[in-house]
Amino acid sequence: MFITFEGGEGSGKTTLIQALKGFFETKNIEVVITREPGGSIIAEKIRQIILDIDNKGIKAKTEALLFAASRVQHLEEVIIPALNDNKVVLCDRFIDSSLAYQGYARGLGVEEVLKINTFALDYMPDITFYIDQAPEVGMARIQSRVNNRLDLEQLDFHHKVREGYLALSKRYDKRYIIINGDQSIEGLINDVKAHLKDVHLWKK
Ligand code: TYD
Repeated sequence: MFITFEGGEGSGKTTLIQALKGFFETKNIEVVITREPGGSIIAEKIRQIILDIDNKGIKAKTEALLFAASRVQHLEEVIIPALNDNKVVLCDRFIDSSLAYQGYARGLGVEEVLKINTFALDYMPDITFYIDQAPEVGMARIQSRVNNRLDLEQLDFHHKVREGYLALSKRYDKRYIIINGDQSIEGLINDVKAHLKDVHLWKK
């Protein structure tokens, strides 16, 4: 089972994913927690180029291609082997981040970004939890830790990211689960667990 977590900045995804680790382990299901961009040694090197605050001159298409390059490396080196071992993979961001950020917010077009990603990989998550939250709230949360190039984008960009995710949740309605981000982290965890309640049935 390949589960991804998506959302805007400061939506609490990372804390949520860490908390879910224990939930799976109590059910004797092995989990692998990983993230994008990055997640493997080579993909982490690409991450540094993409997110470096000094790389202001990166073109939108270069950015989209680098995210896709990092993704295929991560997928083949980490995700697919874990899934082949019957582990559950919890991934902080995946293809939908590229569709929402580069496709919608950067304006490259979702079909174009999908095209370069399907050239790079032919793999979609089984379930995607999207933590939906007004960008004002998330941006206020991360104010003290602005640490990458995309954090520097204006609010308008982050509104487009959210619109992008909401459009994606309709397009991919079978795998998308929208979680209300306007609640405490405990609330988020409980909501996600409620959706995963039959998780023990996945065990082979
Ligand atoms: P990161 O520090 O991992 O942030 P977060 O905690 O928000 O996940 O930074 C990743 C940034 O890169 C984030 O702003 C989202 C963006 N991003 C894209 O624009 N496209 C992508 O395909 C991915 C994976 C991330």
